[in-house]
Amino acid sequence: MRLVLLGAPGAGKGTQAKLLIEKYNTPQISTGDLLRAAVAAESDLGKEAKSYMDRGDLVPDRVVLGMVKERIAHDDCLSGYILDGFPRNTAQAEALDGMLAEMDMALDAALSVDVPMEDLMKRLTGRRTCQKCGQMYNIYFSAPAEENKCDKCGSELYQRDDDREETITKRLEVYESQTAPLIEYYTGKGICRSVDGTGAIDEIFATVCETLGLD
Ligand code: AP5
Ligand code: MG
Ligand code: ZN
Repeated sequence: MRLVLLGAPGAGKGTQAKLLIEKYNTPQISTGDLLRAAVAAESDLGKEAKSYMDRGDLVPDRVVLGMVKERIAHDDCLSGYILDGFPRNTAQAEALDGMLAEMDMALDAALSVDVPMEDLMKRLTGRRTCQKCGQMYNIYFSAPAEENKCDKCGSELYQRDDDREETITKRLEVYESQTAPLIEYYTGKGICRSVDGTGAIDEIFATVCETLGLD
């Protein structure tokens, strides 16, 4: 299945995508993760992206579109993928439609994970991620058994550079003005679905699967 995950920063796109991968073995394409890898590698692309990410702004479309186009052409994407954090504005959504049309493919669904704005700040300031396996934790809601250590692989956890309060505020504004309109965009195409993203992660996952008609 070719799926777009929509939702504000901290809504749980990455968390739900990881569960979908485990269960259905579908690749997750997170433009945020790809950009953070480029920043860590100090590539030219990463150097350009970093200043935008640190401010909480969107990285220019040209950079992101090149990355996605290359990634969805890989063999592991032939039977589907989960786009997490892409598209992020109408221009990206239209460009994605164009790329898919060229490949004679179409999206199956865009799923919006809905969480009230007032919950998001705590989810983001509390997020910690395993530097080795990528497992996500939250010091307020789902803390690891041992402080700062991954339950799954024992590696150290880190906090994302953009999970500081000022940057989060900016990311939430950018979401409202540029990304939220995509709900209407995909509703117009008849493929938009939504789930309540509050409550227990496993229960949300069950609703995600049901909403997408997966078993
Ligand atoms: P990106 O990495 O995409 O960040 P984001 O959209 O801000 O989303 P997050 O990853 O912060 O949230 P999430 O929904 O994945 O939540 P998560 O599952 O981690 O983008 C970062 C930056 O890169 C952008 O600002 C931009 O600069 C750039 N960028 C990326 N894509 C781009 C694009 N297409 N175009 C241009 N620029 C782009 O969960 C968050 C926390 O909540 C975790 O701690 C988790 O454990 C916890 N949590 C999850 N579910 C629950 C629950 N049910 N209850 C309680 N806590 C929960
Ligand atoms: Mg994410
Ligand atoms: Zn780990």
